[in-house]
Amino acid sequence: MIPQPKKIKRTEGTAPQGSLAEERICPGLGGEEYRISISREGIYLSGSGETGLFYARTTLEQLRMMHGEELPCMEIEDWPDYSYRSFQIDCARHYFSVEELKKMIRMAAEFKLNYFHWHISDDQGWRIECKRYPGLHEIGSVRQGDHFGTCRSDEKYGGYYSRREVGEIVDYCGKFGIEVVPEIDMPGHVTAILAAYPELSCLGEPVEVGRKAGIFKELFCAGKEETFVFIENLLDDMLELFPGKYFHIGGDEAPKERWRGCPCCQKRMEEEGLRNAQELQGYFCNRIASYLQSRGRTPIVWNEAVYGGNLNKGVAVQLWTEDKDNQIRAHLDKGGTAILAMVDHCYCDYPYGMHSLKDMYDLETAPAEFGEHGAESVLGAECLVWTEFIRENDRLEELCWPRFAALAEVGWCGRKRPSYEDFRERLSAVFGLFEKYGIHATKIEGWDPDEEAAARQTAQFQMNFSEEERMEARMAQEDI
Ligand code: ACM
Ligand code: ZN
Repeated sequence: MIPQPKKIKRTEGTAPQGSLAEERICPGLGGEEYRISISREGIYLSGSGETGLFYARTTLEQLRMMHGEELPCMEIEDWPDYSYRSFQIDCARHYFSVEELKKMIRMAAEFKLNYFHWHISDDQGWRIECKRYPGLHEIGSVRQGDHFGTCRSDEKYGGYYSRREVGEIVDYCGKFGIEVVPEIDMPGHVTAILAAYPELSCLGEPVEVGRKAGIFKELFCAGKEETFVFIENLLDDMLELFPGKYFHIGGDEAPKERWRGCPCCQKRMEEEGLRNAQELQGYFCNRIASYLQSRGRTPIVWNEAVYGGNLNKGVAVQLWTEDKDNQIRAHLDKGGTAILAMVDHCYCDYPYGMHSLKDMYDLETAPAEFGEHGAESVLGAECLVWTEFIRENDRLEELCWPRFAALAEVGWCGRKRPSYEDFRERLSAVFGLFEKYGIHATKIEGWDPDEEAAARQTAQFQMNFSEEERMEARMAQEDI
């Protein structure tokens, strides 16, 4: 079974063939906790509500897959270690249909993942119908071609989700205890927004929706008051669509060149007593975060947003890079929280030869550098797929599965997870689930490529970046 239940007690005998499970509401159990009792009398599932019962059903489904009709008698008691077990899909670089997303969500639900981080805006596309600012979906959702490494086309590329479709995804997730966490990345990764509303950048000059991968220079201007008015109106519009607790506001990869050269941004720094551009980013994030908090939401940001040292402690920080200079630790010491999504473990856009199934499984959920107190502030972990180089559904699926299942177990079992070898065996026993849900998962021989295969896959992946792009990326990184 994946994730491995906390307690399994085997008892004598098997359940009567063809038994249907009887479901019971047990108010004393935690929201995600469940029990399964399989005895000679029958099969009983308990949970305090729909989510617990759904988890009990998924575990039972896996047991049936392993044992067929001869279900051995046992008692299972189970609950998760971490409350935040998330999967992210980037629908900005490439658009994936509602049908495909539902397939991915259904599969994730089977492994008890409970947050869908939906990356809906980036330099290369804005993907949601917006009532207040229709230029976003009319202009921001279309680019003049794909120049993503070896993934190239000169045809116009576009697509967005209608408000009705967003509701369909949110409701579909809700059926399986999954909350949608939308991400509108800012102040960087906003070129598609600026293509429709260029007056919001520092230069105010026209830009086109991005066609290639990489880090883009244009940011939201943090000096102009109009920027904040726009973002707040936009958030009001998006909050109608996304009712969940968390809202991701990005904050990664924002090179500060434009801010340094902008009189409005410089004036803002002076007025607010901000000593450098990092602190200006902290100020920017805090303003947006406060707006969300005033509407009862919890904002999430990428870890670059803590570099200024002035981030509001109520913001959850999602780590994808190392905790440079102990800045995350300082945020946690102030009472902040963290979500783990380390690039070397959790990023499924890289081939298995670069980030293997074992790498995902070996994610450290209580990093020593956080200290004891900090480790307690970890909400959970996330697996991710960025899609610059992924256009096809089958490719998306084979890169994500079964790596997403490994993260699901990391989040559920925490530090006390079984050995990786044990995980592989259990995964093999339920591999039929991928077929059942129509998912094109990577088969066992591809999970942990040997050195030669890894070198081949790495070389192939590296072909996506020219020398010039590598250089540009390095320079942009230095200014983040
Ligand atoms: C990221 O990968 N830029 C969060
Ligand atoms: Zn500016």
